[in-house]
Amino acid sequence: MTGIERVGVVGCGLMGAGIAEVCARADVPVTIVERDTQAARAGLLRITRSLDRAVAHGRLDAARREAATGLITVVDQIEALHDHDLVIEAVPEDESLKLDVFTRLDSVITGDHTILATNTSSIPVIRLATATTRPDRVVGVHFFNPVPVLRLVELVPSLLTSPTTTARAEDFVTGRLGKEVVRTRDKAGFIVNALLVPYLLAAVRMLESGSATAEDIDRGMVLGCAHPLGPLALTDLIGLDTTRAIAESLYAEFREPQYSPPPLLSRMVEAGLLGRKSGRGFHVYEEHRREAAAPARPR
Ligand SMILES: NC(=O)c1ccc[n+]([C@@H]2O[C@H](COP(=O)([O-])OP(=O)(O)OC[C@H]3O[C@@H](n4cnc5c(N)ncnc54)[C@H](O)[C@@H]3O)[C@@H](O)[C@H]2O)c1
Repeated sequence: MTGIERVGVVGCGLMGAGIAEVCARADVPVTIVERDTQAARAGLLRITRSLDRAVAHGRLDAARREAATGLITVVDQIEALHDHDLVIEAVPEDESLKLDVFTRLDSVITGDHTILATNTSSIPVIRLATATTRPDRVVGVHFFNPVPVLRLVELVPSLLTSPTTTARAEDFVTGRLGKEVVRTRDKAGFIVNALLVPYLLAAVRMLESGSATAEDIDRGMVLGCAHPLGPLALTDLIGLDTTRAIAESLYAEFREPQYSPPPLLSRMVEAGLLGRKSGRGFHVYEEHRREAAAPARPR
């Protein structure tokens, strides 16, 4: 028994929307907090479109879609989470923003049993935990993108996380959400990003040096190594802003050149070329633009 019956998610972007969707599809009521009403509306749209795609591809029936939709509430006030059993923070990879969210969550949560989890890719969990009065009940629960598709969750207890918190979080994500867990120590990048991000940055450096085109770099890794996506297409999927923020955390932790964000990545972020979510990164995503412009399906 995890005692987790109601979940809160803070941030309804790429990851928060996916986390909320998998909770609702597992029959768990979920309240999502966005920074304002416009962002809340966009977040809900992101989820309903993803559920629609699942129905269109035969992965979900229409009745389950309606049931899942009915379990999702999107609001713009963090106070709405005061009585939830597990709150998963999924705001952008910016330490000061996350610290602010954890401080506010700490002040609104009333239940002693509530777990505060972070979906951070690279910020050490202890830094967020010590912004609260309950560091024993703070844990890293790192989902992968796209959340409804990828089964992995990295579970990251900090030095102060209690074994009960870690066990409850693990039971929830495996038993209730059907995910697979790997446990990792609280170091920037954990397991997957510590290995993946230097590879992605190396692909950006290869493009930057003019060695090959973006298309050929990606085709090389797809056709030559059977990767489902090339490194630049994967960076577009993750988001160039998120990739740069992860690289900065890794570089700040380890001071190794392989983690340092290449100038081309920084210039593209500064230009607003963030990958799929902005319609253009290393590749251009016309279908994303068409989808963003289409009217929302009425509920
Ligand atoms: N993108 C990926 O592939 C990926 C994979 C795993 C983990 N992560 C991690 O998940 C987290 C979120 O990343 P993302 O890709 O979903 O980012 P995103 O930019 O797509 O979404 C972040 C959302 O948070 C919202 N937000 C900002 N400030 C807020 C606040 N104060 N209160 C409530 N909402 C707020 C934004 O409006 C936005 O909708 C980051 O820590 C990232 O490192 C990302």
